Amino acid sequence: MVEFELNGVARRVDMPADTPLLWVIRDGLGLPGTKFGCGMGLCGACTIHLDGQPIRSCAIPLAAAAGRRLTTIEGLGAGPAISDLHPAQQAWIEGSVAHCGYCESGQIMAAAALIDANDDPSDAEIDSALSGNLCRCGTYPRIRAAVRRAAELKRGGETVVQSFDPNVAIAPVGGLRA
Ligand code: FES
Ligand code: FES
Repeated sequence: MVEFELNGVARRVDMPADTPLLWVIRDGLGLPGTKFGCGMGLCGACTIHLDGQPIRSCAIPLAAAAGRRLTTIEGLGAGPAISDLHPAQQAWIEGSVAHCGYCESGQIMAAAALIDANDDPSDAEIDSALSGNLCRCGTYPRIRAAVRRAAELKRGGETVVQSFDPNVAIAPVGGLRA
């Protein structure tokens, strides 16, 4: 039995200690927002936070989570309202960053960890922090622009998106397309 905090809630998981956290999160705890890409720690699709630091959940065993704090994309914001979302999530919506969307959960988690630690990252720092998060759709220019916008929101900017329905496409906001 391994105990940890997930998205602010205490959890106890009875799975083998060497089970990758990705499997614990998706199959054991039913949170599908974290994606399986390579399963080898190479693509970043499975990025979550462990005590606020981005990790590849496919490459970290359940035992490593004991007594620690995990955050997934489902728990990144304080609530479903736009104003409660993490600045990275707000910026991703503003910029209509996703294409197929498969990599974007991991991209957002990596971006959120960066701007939580540094709300004015340079382009080099952005590229370095997200270099391990691959996007087969090539949304990198929009990702970089969204990270810059997320940092701006983190510093006190106000999002221009007031509501969001994931089933309805929104027009990209001018300036976020790099
Ligand atoms: S699925 Fe974990 S890094 Fe690719
Ligand atoms: S949006 Fe399709 S893989 Fe990144």
